[in-house]
Amino acid sequence: MTVDSFLQKAWSESGPKVISGFSRPLYHNWAGLVYGRKYDKKAYGGMIRHTEAGMLTQWASQIPENGVVVEIGCYGGLSTSYLLNGLQKRHGKIFAIDPFNSDLEKQAELTDNCVPLEQKPTKELVASRLDANGFSGMFELIEGYSQEAARNWDASIKIDFLWIDGNHEQAYQDFKDFEPYLAPGARVAVHDAHPRYGYDAVVEDVKKIFNSRKWNDLEHVKSIISGRIAD
Ligand SMILES: C[S@@+](CC[C@H](N)C(=O)[O-])C[C@H]1O[C@@H](n2cnc3c(N)ncnc32)[C@H](O)[C@@H]1O
Repeated sequence: MTVDSFLQKAWSESGPKVISGFSRPLYHNWAGLVYGRKYDKKAYGGMIRHTEAGMLTQWASQIPENGVVVEIGCYGGLSTSYLLNGLQKRHGKIFAIDPFNSDLEKQAELTDNCVPLEQKPTKELVASRLDANGFSGMFELIEGYSQEAARNWDASIKIDFLWIDGNHEQAYQDFKDFEPYLAPGARVAVHDAHPRYGYDAVVEDVKKIFNSRKWNDLEHVKSIISGRIAD
């Protein structure tokens, strides 16, 4: 299947109905039930669905031992917690990037304001949540912007899973900025990539991302499009 026909099917009006292959509602719903209800979505102000949450845990649990996840757009730490829940099995580490509640004027300029700026969780609040969830020592919260974090990235740290959920107008740029640091076979997953319940700019950017090189294991979970880079 070409990337374009995969995306067309993933986004078709009636939705994909197959139970195996690129979109697996039974498996995704199972993951959602088993793993995707662990953290309080309302309390964290999170924006992921249960099936998406369950699959973040699943995918994180599949990276190599001592592997590395990078999250762009941590907000209150909901998706971060689901990723860490999977990562525990691998003794892995997550670098979660978000400006949190720093310099709100700069944020108004550099983000797409998809969350109310005056209510942004602090880095300290998110760190305390992650500690309370049992993840001490497994995370580094980077207070800032993905483009800055990419510029300062230590090239010796290879990324096994890149989760893109930051500024919805720069998903492709986020991918390109971190692409040089992706490990062979790394997974990339992009949130809000659905024409009906995502953002048009992300939809256009996932077309660019997944047409820009070869991928394995393309998968569609609600508004997430994911794949693993082919070596
Ligand atoms: C949709 S929310 C993330 C939600 C979170 N992933 C979850 O599911 O719980 C997007 C977050 O990305 C942040 N953001 C915007 N631009 C960013 C950038 N360039 N780098 C990192 N974070 C960014 C926003 O401020 C916001 O906190």
